[in-house]
Amino acid sequence: MSIEFNPISELSEIKALLEGCGLPTEDMDLKKSLYFYGKKIDSMIVAVVGFEILGRNALIRSVAVSAGYRGKGIGKRLVSFAESTAASKGVEKLYLLTTDAHDYFCALGYRSVSRAVVPEAIENTQQFSTICPSNALLMSKELPC
Ligand SMILES: CC(C)(COP(=O)(O)OP(=O)(O)OC[C@H]1O[C@@H](n2cnc3c(N)ncnc32)[C@H](O)[C@@H]1OP(=O)(O)O)[C@@H](O)C(=O)NCCC(=O)NCCS
Repeated sequence: MSIEFNPISELSEIKALLEGCGLPTEDMDLKKSLYFYGKKIDSMIVAVVGFEILGRNALIRSVAVSAGYRGKGIGKRLVSFAESTAASKGVEKLYLLTTDAHDYFCALGYRSVSRAVVPEAIENTQQFSTICPSNALLMSKELPC
């Protein structure tokens, strides 16, 4: 199944999806470095991914697929799309924080890394510094040049 993902700017709808998935929404004012992309079906957002581009590093966050659309490969395509989009903007390494999807991202090539070695720009994001709980695992993946 081919899926096209597009920029999404309807913050209240994104928040509703994320809240329904148990993901945080506190820092969602659109900043220059924060992009949301996703898929709408019948005007409803069924999948979303956010990424904050910070020079050669980026933080993937808010990866969510609504319950009725899971298990169809949309999440994997969404992450792959975020990776290629970030790479096209000059990003070399992606980071993400997760409390319960470690195995999911591990299967997509992400590896756990120590918080002690995270670049300062990632460390300073609200997701990293205040929003995600301290027990959230930090994972990263190098993007092909
Ligand atoms: C995680 C999520 C995005 C996956 O979306 P999806 O479209 O269903 O994923 P895919 O169809 O690409 O992959 C489905 C596979 O991933 C597995 N999977 C789904 N969530 C998982 C999790 N949290 N941990 C481990 N594996 C998981 C499924 O069991 C399925 O396995 P299978 O292929 O062996 O049957 C979706 O379940 C979701 O929105 N969860 C709530 C929000 C969340 O936890 N986001 C991630 C942290 S930001």
